[in-house]
Amino acid sequence: MSKKLIIGNWKMNGSISLLHDFSEILDKENFIIALPYPLIPFAKSINPNVKIAAQDCSIFRGKGAYTGEISADMLKEFGAEYVIVGHSERREFFNESGSIINKKVKNALLAELKIIYCVSENFENQIKNDLEGVDTNIIMAYEPISAIGTGITPSTDDVFAVTTRIKNLWDTKILYGGSVNSSNISDFLGIENVNGVLVGGASLKLDEVKSMLWD
Ligand code: 13P
Repeated sequence: MSKKLIIGNWKMNGSISLLHDFSEILDKENFIIALPYPLIPFAKSINPNVKIAAQDCSIFRGKGAYTGEISADMLKEFGAEYVIVGHSERREFFNESGSIINKKVKNALLAELKIIYCVSENFENQIKNDLEGVDTNIIMAYEPISAIGTGITPSTDDVFAVTTRIKNLWDTKILYGGSVNSSNISDFLGIENVNGVLVGGASLKLDEVKSMLWD
């Protein structure tokens, strides 16, 4: 398979023992793993070449009296190279608005993290509000809400059409996410505009990830 990016987003899942099971593939060239915060330094200790994304970062910078928060600067120090910002689950369950996402994007850029910025069907408004004043290149992930965790994927024609519209607004690398697995990944990676995939549920299964990386 091509060297398009495969990003596994473990969300609020995984364990130390599952990470150990993944140790042999952690340093695959095109694989990035988005881990729960405490597993980040742990993954680095298992395999120093692993490429790690955090799943979110604080709206606050540096260090300070913000109980429970983890700043982008801390994530960088702990071993993350990327951070996911604006995932639809953060928007839905934590009421993340454009101004919150905008602060997170700017903090992540100041911390020199690479950003995986997620949009859904409402991408036009999201990009306008979330990326105000941002002029740096970021990786975008198009994740239609209707496809996340449902097993129902859009057609490749649909993904091509939407990603073309996204590219017209923001010309950058685009990932597709939503019910990607080892059986359908090649359909999505075959789309001209699509530079990689963001995988949720299937990224917790070692065999699935292996066959996505090796096919
Ligand atoms: P699923 O692959 O489980 O549909 O999740 C997609 C996703 O939200 C990845 O960030």
